[in-house]
Amino acid sequence: MSVAGVPRPLTLGDLAAKKDAGEPIVMVTAYDHPSAQIADEAGVDMVLVGDSAAMTVLGYSSTVPVTMDEMLMLTRAVRRGLTRALLVGDLPFGSYEASDSLAVQTAQRFVKEAGCDLVKLERGGTTVDRARAIVAAGIPVVGHVGLTPQSATALGGYRAQGRTADAALAVIDDALALQDAGCSLIVLEAIPSEVTSLLQERLTIPTIGIGAGADADGQVLVWHDLLGIYGGPAAKFVKRYADVRAASEAGVAEYAREVRSGKYPAPEHGYGMPADEVAKLKELLAGR
Ligand code: KIV
Repeated sequence: MSVAGVPRPLTLGDLAAKKDAGEPIVMVTAYDHPSAQIADEAGVDMVLVGDSAAMTVLGYSSTVPVTMDEMLMLTRAVRRGLTRALLVGDLPFGSYEASDSLAVQTAQRFVKEAGCDLVKLERGGTTVDRARAIVAAGIPVVGHVGLTPQSATALGGYRAQGRTADAALAVIDDALALQDAGCSLIVLEAIPSEVTSLLQERLTIPTIGIGAGADADGQVLVWHDLLGIYGGPAAKFVKRYADVRAASEAGVAEYAREVRSGKYPAPEHGYGMPADEVAKLKELLAGR
């Protein structure tokens, strides 16, 4: 349904309806305006301005250093590119953990200054209280369990989580606690598909998997991974749907060759001047 060709923005109700209908929810990350427009035009349901931006677009070696100002600037650019998909802002490390009031203030900035529909935060434990406080302040929250990159060091690195019964139980308890706290969705990252199946039997809110198997209600991939822009090694769960890095390198190398050989710019890339104006200009210069 749309008004005058503009697609109707999706709602949380639409996501719940998709879960009920068994229709997968599609989420991607994006970090800038053109990518947001592409994601929206491709018909994805949700765009996450992930703190993965720290690594994919800002060149940090982990997600930990990215600041509020950096995240807000990227998120605002994405907001301007979306008309239909729901926008999720990712609260950066250190911006919500210390207290409920800090978490609410941070979430409010993402809604007020960057136009987010939802905010995402990582882990169970004390994060459950932060999620509850943000929900109580009227802001929908996405939880994130399993591999939570902001605490990768404590988790023993970027590795799958919940691979023993005890570890899986902890992941399940975190997810259930986040649901009880009022989260609207939960991201499940890098957990065994068996654990996802068991969660699906116990959770009523939609789940979005990344490396969590096919049973989640939706999937998310990082923009630079799925399009083959990121140069480094990819996680096991990544599937590349394009090779944008290779195409970009080839394009830039060809441009450099043509500039160096004089092939670019050709006459059709320049601006002309009427012959009589050129003659007049030469006269003016000669008279100086
Ligand atoms: O920051 C991010 O991109 C994420 C996704 C991997 C879920 O948290």
